[in-house]
Amino acid sequence: MSLFPTYSRYEITPVKGEGAYLYDVNGKRYLDFASGIGVTNLGHCHPRVTQKVEKQLQNLWHVSNLFPIQIQEEVAKQLCELSQMGAVFFCNSGAEANEAAFKLARKWGSEARLIKEPKIITFESSFHGRTLATLTATGQNKVKTGFAPYPEGFITIPFQDFERLKRITGSQVVAVCLELVQGEGGVRPCDRSFVQELAAWCKERNILLMIDEVQTGMGRTGELFAFQAYEIEPDIFTLAKGLGNGMPVGAMLAKEKLKPIFGPGSHGSTFGGNPLAMAAAQAVLEEMSQPLFLQKVKEKGQYFLQALHEACGQKDGVKEIRGLGLMVGIEMDHPVAPVIKELLEQGLIAISAGEKVIRFLPPLVVTMEQIDEAVEIIQQVLGKKKQHVLIS
Ligand SMILES: Cc1ncc(COP(=O)(O)O)c(C=O)c1O
Repeated sequence: MSLFPTYSRYEITPVKGEGAYLYDVNGKRYLDFASGIGVTNLGHCHPRVTQKVEKQLQNLWHVSNLFPIQIQEEVAKQLCELSQMGAVFFCNSGAEANEAAFKLARKWGSEARLIKEPKIITFESSFHGRTLATLTATGQNKVKTGFAPYPEGFITIPFQDFERLKRITGSQVVAVCLELVQGEGGVRPCDRSFVQELAAWCKERNILLMIDEVQTGMGRTGELFAFQAYEIEPDIFTLAKGLGNGMPVGAMLAKEKLKPIFGPGSHGSTFGGNPLAMAAAQAVLEEMSQPLFLQKVKEKGQYFLQALHEACGQKDGVKEIRGLGLMVGIEMDHPVAPVIKELLEQGLIAISAGEKVIRFLPPLVVTMEQIDEAVEIIQQVLGKKKQHVLIS
């Protein structure tokens, strides 16, 4: 193999995807409750996305941001209307979207508050990406080891520790950055009271509230953006994963007051917001704006959680079942790698979130019957817990 061994990969090779199903090279069918780590939110090869991208493929692929790109402006306008934001910067991934957010916050700090050594507060167990700045912001040592020296200007504090936050506020703090449901950190939804208190506190002190919606955004939690579920208004938020349903695209959105901070030459991306990526994003937004789409996600999320509680809540080794919308985790009291392997053998694709949480990110178009099918497999596999502990 000529690839860097950066990933420990599953033992199957998918070659075709259709809705909630993946098919491997041998023709075996899998129920895909990972969605490419929360990306194919509309399922594999969604007809509306495929058609729109196919049409764009025949017309224009790429011109760069040296030119106005009509479809980019349309998607930006739609995203702003849906989120009450003032401006969008398009890039290609979640890490890049967060980098853009950090840069925007620093520049705002320097221009609007004359801050020379800006600090951005982040939380333990968070995940914000793998670039140097985003891994520094990430509250997990496993992504940092070996990559020092780290960029300055990030302070990581315990998850949801508001008292600690209050103690560190120097006048140099420009932003607080958080995921409303920590994804990689173990599917941990923030408490509503913490989030609302934090939002009010940031506003009072003229500190930017930055929400990383790379995993929680695009319908995953039952609202288009998770901050809508928490009824807060961030100053900046970031998107990627589900925005293109598999077409690589990221976005950083900010309030109108921050728009002039990123003037000409301040930031850029060759590919960011190119017509192909925008065609996919436009189709995704059209589909998610259909009446009842998000309502159904909420219903399916509640149904899935409830079914898991009933089927698996009392099983040996299960510590907690939690989630929001169709972002669901089962925390076990032992490593879950062998469980995930067995789920795969039984035809269900899941992923881990940290060492001890099984994470489910089914496509938002999943049916109740497919949820039943998944719960049945999970129940069976968790029933064999003793075997897992022995081989783990
Ligand atoms: C919350 C969050 N932020 C940022 C990222 C990084 O995104 P990407 O891998 O597209 O750079 C991820 C990826 O899992 C994520 O879950």
